Amino acid sequence: MQSTIDYIQEYTDNFQPEIGIVLGSGLGNLADEYNEFAIPYSDIPGFVKSTIEGHKGKLVFANIAGKNVVMMQGRNHYYEGHSMAEITYPIKVMKELGVNTLILTNAAGAINKSFRLGDLMVITDHINFMGANPLLGPNDPKFGPRFPDMSEVYNKDLIKVVDNAGRFLGLNLKHGVYFASSGPSYETPAEIRMARILGADAAGMSTVPEAIVANYCGMEVLGISCITNYASGVSTKKLEHAEVIETAANINKQFKNLITLTIKNI
Ligand code: HPA
Repeated sequence: MQSTIDYIQEYTDNFQPEIGIVLGSGLGNLADEYNEFAIPYSDIPGFVKSTIEGHKGKLVFANIAGKNVVMMQGRNHYYEGHSMAEITYPIKVMKELGVNTLILTNAAGAINKSFRLGDLMVITDHINFMGANPLLGPNDPKFGPRFPDMSEVYNKDLIKVVDNAGRFLGLNLKHGVYFASSGPSYETPAEIRMARILGADAAGMSTVPEAIVANYCGMEVLGISCITNYASGVSTKKLEHAEVIETAANINKQFKNLITLTIKNI
């Protein structure tokens, strides 16, 4: 961990981020718009390389609305074959760099039938259906407790801030529970019906490991899903990654405005 921190601090001339953002599928453009300087993951000791189309794999640093921010342009996923520890390592690195507020974003499929493509859903809670937990294994009490509380993973004050920003911008933000499975196969219609019965509103393959680790480390977490498709069985259409990327890219402007105003008001 120390070699990762030393490398980043030397490269960034001790830039001190207070807010971290993880940009999901098709949402990485935000980092291009605000890029002041960037480091490819492949150069950072301890980081694994992103292998997915639509994920660029860079740590991007910028000042947004007066706050120092570090962005992950592209995340690593469990389905790529990385361990839970590997995919959540950057969250601990952000914590060590000084980040205390983390914004997690993703592309997700609508389980809730009232959602429409391009909707933004503020995550109010999650269901971890990935079959693994990033905190398995020996605990380092430097980061957090052995049995961390998860009763408010997604910070209620941050939800108020993003809701106010959404109202100001005239966006009709949704709220909902994010259901995470490991992927890489999309869910079956029966799995989506099950998730709906369990109280889920949107389905995805990321975010939950990072949210668990960030909450464990004492960070305040905000989660935003871009609804890129109807989940399996919700519409008759088959699911395609290209459609996910395209829908997310289409709402880039609203997404940028929402994130910028939210950061300003944090
Ligand atoms: N299911 C799982 N992951 C996803 C989906 C989905 O429908 N859309 C985008 N990521």
